[in-house]
Amino acid sequence: MNVWQAESFPVSLHFPRKVGESMRRPLIVGNWKMYKEPDEAVGLARALISAIGGMEGERDVVICPPFVCLQPVFQVLRDSSILLGAQNMHWEAEGAYTGEISGAMILTCGCTYVILGHSERRQHFGETDATVNRKLAAALEIGLLPIICVGESLEQRRAGRVEEVVLGQVEAALQSVAAKDVPGFALAYEPIWAIGTGTASSADQAEEVHSLIRNFLRQRFDSKTAAQIRLLYGGSVKPDNAADFFARTNIDGGLIGGASIQAETFAAIAKAGG
Ligand code: PGA
Repeated sequence: MNVWQAESFPVSLHFPRKVGESMRRPLIVGNWKMYKEPDEAVGLARALISAIGGMEGERDVVICPPFVCLQPVFQVLRDSSILLGAQNMHWEAEGAYTGEISGAMILTCGCTYVILGHSERRQHFGETDATVNRKLAAALEIGLLPIICVGESLEQRRAGRVEEVVLGQVEAALQSVAAKDVPGFALAYEPIWAIGTGTASSADQAEEVHSLIRNFLRQRFDSKTAAQIRLLYGGSVKPDNAADFFARTNIDGGLIGGASIQAETFAAIAKAGG
């Protein structure tokens, strides 16, 4: 267990505090992807603290910089309410896996969350439902809170396969996961055609898929457990459409890419999520 994390961020404080259907604590996550070198990352983290400080208790805000920025950014964040996440991890604790990084390593850098199965990793780096499931098991084992990404391609949507594809990904990721391990989880629905394109899904379309996922989770676990999992929307979320998404019953926050690497836009989106 990471000492910084244990002292500064008791994880239980950041779980959804209420389990009623509309009472989940909003979660806004910035996925910085492969942007920002350590100095720039520290500057952006400082700017975010001044822009969204004072929102403690209203929502959870998490930023996920590149691996090399985790430690310096954590030094900036440790006295703030903003939490740190990583964009990926390996499922093994250690080993001969050149270029990979373990959950223990990112935990030691001060991370509370880890993004798993982002579509860019599935598309460019051979991530599969099976590897997402192994990574999820490793994250749970070590005490990292997972943000599992799912979403359909444009072709799959046009072929009417959204439900089959998305629920298939959710089911595969959660294979062998017990209800007791679920509090703290987040699932991000990110239609691939909306990521980085400037064409977001409509809030109605997203809510429809979120409600399918919530129903699936009810059947897979139980109503109480399903009501605890935060479902995020991701894909071209901007300050001018964020509030519309976050107002929907089953949309509990967002996974933000492009708009998260500028303090003003990410702060505006985070403020919309409360
Ligand atoms: P975007 O990315 O906000 O730039 O569309 C979202 C994501 O990839 O998580």
